[in-house]
Amino acid sequence: MKRSDLLKLLTVTTLAFLYIGVRPAHGGGEDPLVPRVPEEKLASAKLMKNPVVADAKSIAAGREIYYGKGLCVNCHGESGKGDGPGGASFDPGPRNFTNTAWQAVRTDGELFTAITDGTQYGMIAFGDNLTAKEKWEVINFIRTFGAGAVAKNTSAKSEQK
Ligand code: HEC
Repeated sequence: MKRSDLLKLLTVTTLAFLYIGVRPAHGGGEDPLVPRVPEEKLASAKLMKNPVVADAKSIAAGREIYYGKGLCVNCHGESGKGDGPGGASFDPGPRNFTNTAWQAVRTDGELFTAITDGTQYGMIAFGDNLTAKEKWEVINFIRTFGAGAVAKNTSAKSEQK
């Protein structure tokens, strides 16, 4: 898919949510600490290792995606707090990446799966619109909002430290 198509898709999806005011059914699921990857995929998601080392280069590439073609900033906000303008109608809102408790319970593989498949509460499924490498890079960048909090045994970077 071309970048312009991705942009359109995201704009349409965002507008649809704003317009219809979709409120997903509530359950205990609003707690951001509750896993978003469905039960049947969770174990394998947790086993996935981030193959992209979180060095300055991959973090910079991830930053480009976050503020650029990924449009993550629209919903997750300038400083990762989940307060972007496109995220206002979601309940629960877009994830606040500065929540260190959340950073500490999620593995990179879970984030990768959520970015690929989306979540039941409205995180967009990026599918193949980002390459695997781009997803790992943007995950490395998202981790920088967490001030070093990261689930153990999750990524190349945690082995590096
Ligand atoms: C249209 C708004 C929107 C955009 C654009 C968006 N997100 Fe999200 N995102 C959400 C919402 C809403 C949630 C919370 C959903 C939930 O609680 O299940 C979320 C949740 C997440 C989560 C948390 C999953 C978890 O396990 O807790 C991650 C990681 C994430 N987004 C990454 C990204 C990345 C990376 C991008 C850009 C490539 C992006 N998002 C773009 C709305 C968005």
